[in-house]
Amino acid sequence: MKFFIDTANLKEIQEAHLLGVLDGVTTNPSLMAKEGITGKDNIMRHYKAICDIVDGDVSAEVISTDLEGMIREGEELIEIDEKIVVKIPMIKDGVKALKYFSGKGVRTNCTLIFSAGQALLAAKAGATYVSPFIGRLDDISTDGIALIEQILTIYRNYGYETQVLAASVRHPMHILQCAELGADVMTGPLSAIEALLKHPLTDIGLAKFLSDYQKGNS
Ligand code: E4P
Repeated sequence: MKFFIDTANLKEIQEAHLLGVLDGVTTNPSLMAKEGITGKDNIMRHYKAICDIVDGDVSAEVISTDLEGMIREGEELIEIDEKIVVKIPMIKDGVKALKYFSGKGVRTNCTLIFSAGQALLAAKAGATYVSPFIGRLDDISTDGIALIEQILTIYRNYGYETQVLAASVRHPMHILQCAELGADVMTGPLSAIEALLKHPLTDIGLAKFLSDYQKGNS
């Protein structure tokens, strides 16, 4: 399972990279705004800075909602770095843009996926990744993990190569549930990734090992 971090914060990306488990980064306009990155030039520079840290795919989202605009923006984004994956919203012109970019060999991430039907369309249009938002579904009392399972079943039935990128991950259980189902990728905050390494018995066990060592070596 690939681990992507869902942030535009360079420090967090660097920290996840140094942990040695980072396979890529996803961003979105809200995450860029949260870091105070505004204006086209600054946004493009920030994507480059992210690409310089991470060994792997970096999703950069288009703002346009019409086909022509999405194509223009996507073509500019892929000029930044070969790691850039063009993130496209699941709307009608977005499906057309996925098809266009897949025909050009440009990698895409279809975002804002909330149903299996949307994921099926994105795969048929040749998306490299689909991003079902599991946390936002859970937020409205709908089972986000069940959607991951449904999409994986459909893709396996027909051998679609589109990778299921479980997005809007909120906590370590989401990561484990996605891993059990065989999701290709998960993207979440650094806190969810770091929570995987925590266990109280590890802390208690380590404290005991170290105190026993001190007793014998002091
Ligand atoms: C996906 O690529 C999105 O950036 C993201 O996972 C959204 O997560 P949120 O629901 O925590 O904002």
